[in-house]
Amino acid sequence: MLRQQDVGHRIVVRRIVGIREGRPLFSDALGELVELSETHLTLATAKGQLRVPVAQVHRAKRVPPTRRPTATAVVALERAADEAWPAPTRGRLGDWLLRSADGWTGRANSALPIGDPDRPLPAAVDAVERWYAELGQPALINTPLPLAAPVGAELDARGWAARPPTLVQTTPLPSLASAPAEAPLADLRATASDAAGAQAGGWSSAVVELASAPSEEWLAIAAGRKGGLPEAARHVLTAVDQVRFAHVYADDALVAIGRGAVTGQGRWLGLSLIEVLPSARRQGLARRVIHELASWGLAGGATHAFLQVEQRNTAAIALYQRLGFTTHHTYLTRVAPHRA
Ligand SMILES: CC(C)(COP(=O)(O)OP(=O)(O)OC[C@H]1O[C@@H](n2cnc3c(N)ncnc32)[C@H](O)[C@@H]1OP(=O)(O)O)[C@@H](O)C(=O)NCCC(=O)NCCS
Repeated sequence: MLRQQDVGHRIVVRRIVGIREGRPLFSDALGELVELSETHLTLATAKGQLRVPVAQVHRAKRVPPTRRPTATAVVALERAADEAWPAPTRGRLGDWLLRSADGWTGRANSALPIGDPDRPLPAAVDAVERWYAELGQPALINTPLPLAAPVGAELDARGWAARPPTLVQTTPLPSLASAPAEAPLADLRATASDAAGAQAGGWSSAVVELASAPSEEWLAIAAGRKGGLPEAARHVLTAVDQVRFAHVYADDALVAIGRGAVTGQGRWLGLSLIEVLPSARRQGLARRVIHELASWGLAGGATHAFLQVEQRNTAAIALYQRLGFTTHHTYLTRVAPHRA
């Protein structure tokens, strides 16, 4: 049966619409679950809203989204993601974006080839190479797929390498904010003999604080993950109007961090830098960080959350899957061949 976490997701409902010759007659409805109460559930179907009394529901379950997102949806999300991770040095080639941030993270130091570059494709790639050469940086291009497949083919022909794929995942915010934040076993697991998590109150007593700026300790954890923090990194992290930095303290020590930024005309909450110290993992802290940021984003009017995660990051993908995220699209970071 359905739970509050299913609100915002696509579901199928088999309901009983009558009885003929002593047997129930069924009808199936497919749509997004808008509301779930004790007595009714409301579905947004292709034909409009449908309110079904719970008493009529024979079976109901969540189903995966079947349709690929439209090109427009991919472009809108990529633009929202760019706003949420703003590179301080920027240029344009027609609709394409050129971004640089002292080399800090691939996303902020790559071209985003969506839309029309106002010139033939080979000339556009030449121009990207020149722009980065002038900055003394390697040329990178992030290709959202399948949208930028033609660009990918051009880069293949030029011998550009590809980093491991990144998944862009999304989920409706109401269900993310309502998902239980506490891990039921958190107290039990953090016993006094848990040397790694040597703190008396158990991890469930850890405190999550949302701040409008990152603390120095927060930045140190981020630096550890992303390999240092040049000046441009502070810009990338903070130059967004609506942004929050989650700090999780246990016994006054910062043990987990996360960042949430609302962009895309207020629709999208972008989650980034979700990081839990190794000694504090599997105690529900990442889940709590995401829950707090989701509640903040929802209160601010955002409707959906997105994040980017490397396909090989199995721990993070397991976490996000558990929280209801599904893959919207993927991208490859392409790297120009080194020219001697
Ligand atoms: C990914 C990460 C943030 C998870 O943090 P965490 O606090 O350990 O996660 P939680 O305890 O909240 O996990 C909640 C659920 O997610 C899933 N999960 C989390 N880590 C998992 C792992 N290593 N393997 C399998 N499932 C995992 C489980 O379902 C888990 O519930 P359970 O412990 O009851 O089984 C942490 O491993 C980390 O900091 N990794 C390095 C940084 C990173 O990769 N960040 C993500 C970048 S996109």
